[in-house]
Amino acid sequence: MTAYGRLFTAIYDPFLAWGERAGMGALRRSLLSEAQGDVLEIGAGTGLNLDAYPPGVASLTLADPEPSMVARLRGRAEENGHEVVEAGAESLPFADASFDTVVSTLVLCTVTDVTASLAEIRRVLRPGGRLLAIEHVRAEAHGLRRWQDRLHGPWLRFGYGCHCNRDTVASLAAAGFETGALAPARWRRMPPIVAPLVTGSLPAPA
Ligand SMILES: C[S@@+](CC[C@H](N)C(=O)[O-])C[C@H]1O[C@@H](n2cnc3c(N)ncnc32)[C@H](O)[C@@H]1O
Repeated sequence: MTAYGRLFTAIYDPFLAWGERAGMGALRRSLLSEAQGDVLEIGAGTGLNLDAYPPGVASLTLADPEPSMVARLRGRAEENGHEVVEAGAESLPFADASFDTVVSTLVLCTVTDVTASLAEIRRVLRPGGRLLAIEHVRAEAHGLRRWQDRLHGPWLRFGYGCHCNRDTVASLAAAGFETGALAPARWRRMPPIVAPLVTGSLPAPA
């Protein structure tokens, strides 16, 4: 646990609060209403999705590699019977085909190895399972893409490893996910370099 990791965890909810009220909260609730069965959330952070899960999910497992996030999650989630695990998406400590739903919101921008993370998501999903994702992505507009590249370094440090210019849609497609099901959206009241979003429910590749 680094000092900046602790600070990032402490400022995370206040920094996102405007954006949550301006639409991100609604996006989370809309997407996560589709969660079902045994659910794994990767990079669960401070637990901003917790209130968005439908009451009927069979089990909820929350994973994050950052110890200060895990401590915050434990406080919020364990009293409701959810399991909290300290783990990165690149190496998930679960058996093959363990989950019906995997949730990733604002995480694939930050994982160290996207290819390994998506392979792990595929591995732990059951046949017929789904990946529910909200991710900020590389902009389509040339001008904004240039700003994402210019500000990548400072944002990487401020965002504790977040790559504002990552082409996550291409990575999902390369991993075999059907990206045609992703809808564009905007993360309002947040810096423009992280405003372009995609959101969707993607079937586990066969
Ligand atoms: C921007 S936050 C998103 C938190 C939460 N999912 C949300 O929607 O608010 C990114 C999260 O990814 C976590 N993270 C960092 N590296 C990771 C990795 N390799 N695998 C999974 N999660 C990671 C961070 O600790 C942090 O909690």
